[in-house]
Amino acid sequence: MNLSIYFFSVVVFVFSTGLHSATQEGAFSSKGMVVSRSSLASNAGLEIMRQGGNAVDAAVATAFALAVTYPSAGNLGGGGFALVRVPDGRIFSLDHRETAPNASHRDMYLDEAGEPNKYLSRFSALSSGVPGTVDGLLTLLNRFGSMPREKVMLPAIRLARDGFLVDFFLSRHIKKYGKKLKDYESSEKKFSRNGVSLSAGELWIQPDLAKTLIAISENGRDGFYDGAVAKLIVTEMKARGGIISLEDLKNYRSVWRDPVGIDYRGNQIWTMGPPSSGLLILQMLNMLEPFDLQKLGWGGSKLIHLMIEAEKRAYSDRAEHLGDPDFFDVPLEILTSKKYAEKRFQDFKWDRLSESEKISHGNIKDRDSRETTHFSVMGSDGMAVSFTTTLNSPYGNKIVVPGAGFLLNNEMDDFSIKANVMNQFNLIGREANSIEPNKRMLSSMSPTIVVKDGLPILVTGSPGGSTIITTVLQVIINFLDHKMPLNEAVGFPRFHHQWKPDTILHERGTFSPDTRENLEKLGYTAFRAWSFGGGIGDANSISFDGSLIHGVKDPRASGAAAGL
Ligand code: GLY
Repeated sequence: MNLSIYFFSVVVFVFSTGLHSATQEGAFSSKGMVVSRSSLASNAGLEIMRQGGNAVDAAVATAFALAVTYPSAGNLGGGGFALVRVPDGRIFSLDHRETAPNASHRDMYLDEAGEPNKYLSRFSALSSGVPGTVDGLLTLLNRFGSMPREKVMLPAIRLARDGFLVDFFLSRHIKKYGKKLKDYESSEKKFSRNGVSLSAGELWIQPDLAKTLIAISENGRDGFYDGAVAKLIVTEMKARGGIISLEDLKNYRSVWRDPVGIDYRGNQIWTMGPPSSGLLILQMLNMLEPFDLQKLGWGGSKLIHLMIEAEKRAYSDRAEHLGDPDFFDVPLEILTSKKYAEKRFQDFKWDRLSESEKISHGNIKDRDSRETTHFSVMGSDGMAVSFTTTLNSPYGNKIVVPGAGFLLNNEMDDFSIKANVMNQFNLIGREANSIEPNKRMLSSMSPTIVVKDGLPILVTGSPGGSTIITTVLQVIINFLDHKMPLNEAVGFPRFHHQWKPDTILHERGTFSPDTRENLEKLGYTAFRAWSFGGGIGDANSISFDGSLIHGVKDPRASGAAAGL
């Protein structure tokens, strides 16, 4: 197919490069595809593919560009996870999650009365984990890329150095967080002009960020974890009571981990293992597999009840059993086994909900983790990358490192800062996810690849904190069970339940009046309609049928599916 780049949503068309045309269906190509939250970042990946780069080259170019064009979640100062499917069919996963600084300790966010100080864990310099993104991207490129780093980083450097026109969506987003982004002089300097947040149509040049990107391009990981940039990070830490040291930065390493997978109705579902909690998707699919979901029908109260019951059990297990596997013995095999799912679901009742207060984590007697972004990439050779990255909250802790031009994460809040105390996503945790020096905080980021008969048929993932897991679950079920084309599988309304709080969060249009009535009859009383812009998740996804690559930008947010 010739150059054809289509958008799922007409609104994103406003700030495209002119190469795009709009359709409800998404983008189609037989050569390659990049789908991300920023049309400029998708185009950065596409440019690398046009130059002969593979899916990993394109993914690395897209991720660096997102740090420039979508700074609330695209980042250098955060971390993430990548799932890679190489052309021979093997799947790899790279954990480049932030780590707790060496000087951190379990009770570091508790005041004298033992109460958690959420300002410290979310908004201060003390909220930052040691950033993993730069090491992660370079590690990925070294192992599976085919192009030199200087070439792959050039589109991002150009965007930062020469600038780009701020579009309506970016301007609106920056204005939304404008007040907080003025708390720090360096942040105000980056995001405002004469005290006014960046406006649509303005040329945005980021000279400090360009310098940092050039340092990385020229010196590799040392350009970030050592030398001038590292010193700027540590100076800012010292000025504001943070604890990331030069040693922490020098010692940071991303980790290749075994991806976790199950067979679900003849499809192999692969996702990120701990310290992500993507395996909850596998647990829930295992619990749902005995039922004919297609027959129950999309949007029916029976199916919704069934899914919520699976969600309650899985999220309850998350609080007890999941944490950084280098520090906590996660019962991975048991949690992902069909037998465990069967046992966990044996008290399911069609005519009654299980009270969340009465649901506890499963006992495993035999043996002793809101602003993130997801993008998907696929090449014609079957290489695929599913990549989720974050600073945790929108714009992280809102601190731009002076002179270095990038934001720091506030990922420490993803630890359980006190047992059973909710984090910003209302997720609770206990011992498994307590703070320890150099430990990785539990995440919900779940980059996922589905394989059938040797083909990567679906590449998906999402932002959304705790809602990532149920978003990915719904995309998978819509695609595999309800046999929806990808644009529908991604676009249809979503709901979410995470055990505690015992509330069904739902987008408008998810429940018909009849469905809601039936759910109320079953005992569901707490419903909360999504009231912010967009919706639940932003699942930028790709499907493949053996010849055609279909890219879909989630219509809930701007960005682009860009096909080669
Ligand atoms: N910071 C959100 C997550 O990792 O789940």
